[in-house]
Amino acid sequence: MNYRPLGRTPWKVSDISFGAWAIGGAWGNVSDDESLAALNQAIDSGVNFIDTADVYGDGRSERLIAQLKKSRKEEIVVATKAGRRLPKQTVEGYSRENLNAWIDRSLKNLSTDSLDLVQLHCPPTELYNRAEVFGMLDDLVKAGKVRYYGVSVEKVEEALKAIEYPNVQTVQIIFNCFRQKPADTFFARAKEKRVGILARVPLASGMLTGKLRADSQFDSNDHRNFNRHGEHFDVGETFSGVDYKTGLEAVEELRKLVPAGTSMTQFALRWILMFDAVTCAIPGGKRPDQVAENCKASDLPALSQDAMGKVKGIYEGRVKELVQERW
Ligand SMILES: NC(=O)c1ccc[n+]([C@@H]2O[C@H](COP(=O)([O-])OP(=O)(O)OC[C@H]3O[C@@H](n4cnc5c(N)ncnc54)[C@H](OP(=O)(O)O)[C@@H]3O)[C@@H](O)[C@H]2O)c1
Repeated sequence: MNYRPLGRTPWKVSDISFGAWAIGGAWGNVSDDESLAALNQAIDSGVNFIDTADVYGDGRSERLIAQLKKSRKEEIVVATKAGRRLPKQTVEGYSRENLNAWIDRSLKNLSTDSLDLVQLHCPPTELYNRAEVFGMLDDLVKAGKVRYYGVSVEKVEEALKAIEYPNVQTVQIIFNCFRQKPADTFFARAKEKRVGILARVPLASGMLTGKLRADSQFDSNDHRNFNRHGEHFDVGETFSGVDYKTGLEAVEELRKLVPAGTSMTQFALRWILMFDAVTCAIPGGKRPDQVAENCKASDLPALSQDAMGKVKGIYEGRVKELVQERW
């Protein structure tokens, strides 16, 4: 496992880290035992950074991470998120009272007296014009309840705006073979500002593992079933906003580029790590075998320039027009 500095924080974190949404919910049924086994596998593989949110399984994911931390001696940095407990996303909802209540709840779930990193959880675009909300986060840092804060965004424009606030340490954004815009329009500025970048949805919700088929079925409580068209939250979070058929076709093109001895999943993750502005990819893992496979991507040799060019070509030929303007 390799480690990269997390922005201006004191931490160096594993470049393949752990996304803890699926172990909370919205990805079909998961058992706590298996989720804990997946988390333990991550630590055994060298992961030292976990991304979660207060809403993943309504706190289930945070509580499992607290359990993991109690049972392990390694230092584990935990990033959580706040904002999605609002019944409806409004700028006014990001009040001091609500923020304090969300943070207190996460402190309890994570069984700690200070949160390592809190990210605003895809707030409305207008929020990035409200300096007072970032002031409230500064106050939470002063009060010792939060060590560092950052944002999780839907759009590149939001990311660029967020990093103009001087204490924003990290930006979490969708970045994968199907979502290449951040590399062209955001990474250079983030590097200048020494902001950490967490590449989320790195496997396009499992599509980039190469295992999905036209007739693959998803449980009714899996967002790949219930949010196919953005019925419940931003459609970009499900298969990166690429329609299922186009995604499968692009995967068949990408598959031809995967070197022998490397899985398609590892290829997709190694592609992300080719960008030095990225701090880490945070693949979601539900089972220990998935986590072990994902972590091995860290130590793979660099992809060839030829392969990088071809991935770009596949994006430009098949996917770009579906996503580039939207996010
Ligand atoms: N708004 C936000 O801030 C936001 C939104 C989305 C995600 N996130 C964060 O980003 C993390 C990652 O994104 P994501 O979980 O949405 O998508 P992802 O990492 O692209 O895909 C994760 C899913 O792919 C499958 N998978 C993972 N490793 C695999 C392997 N080695 N082989 C086969 N299948 C594998 C698993 O599902 P199956 O086994 O069921 O196929 C897993 O749940 C989340 O966990 C969360 O921490 C944040």
